[in-house]
Amino acid sequence: MRTLKLESEVEVYDDRNELPERISKLLAQAEEAATRAYAPYSHFQVGAAVQMDNGEVITGSNQENAVFPCGLCAERTAAFAASAKYPDVPFKAIAITAINPEAPLAKPVSPCGSCRQALYEYEQKFNNHMEVILAGQSGPVFVFHSVEDLLPYTFNAGFMS
Ligand code: THU
Repeated sequence: MRTLKLESEVEVYDDRNELPERISKLLAQAEEAATRAYAPYSHFQVGAAVQMDNGEVITGSNQENAVFPCGLCAERTAAFAASAKYPDVPFKAIAITAINPEAPLAKPVSPCGSCRQALYEYEQKFNNHMEVILAGQSGPVFVFHSVEDLLPYTFNAGFMS
């Protein structure tokens, strides 16, 4: 028997003034997108902004439904819209943040497993890394180099070939 240790690296910005401009700008777009969430059931508003390789930014927010499973997270709303609009353009980065009106979020929001898998697909498709920027309403900002860092041992198309 042997043990494998999983390691992933994340840049932590405790001071938001130290964020590179491209990151703070993308985060501001995710913050704005969160205000457009449709979240009448959870009241938890999530915003995502995808930086595309052609300079465009596509945003999304969570969209809930009275039939709960019909709703969709902000990350997939943004990623699917981005891919539907620009099917041949790689994603360079995604910024994700949330507003919790009941208890303001003082730590970075964490994308769910399904969204990590969905984002990983685009990283694989274009064979390029996508930075993942995570923030709460206050507190540190996390910057991961790639989706793969957030989802090790991922299932991908390679297993089926
Ligand atoms: N949600 C997201 O949009 N993204 C996440 O990463 C976590 C959760 C949404 C789904 C639902 O509308 C609400 O937040 C509460 O789970």
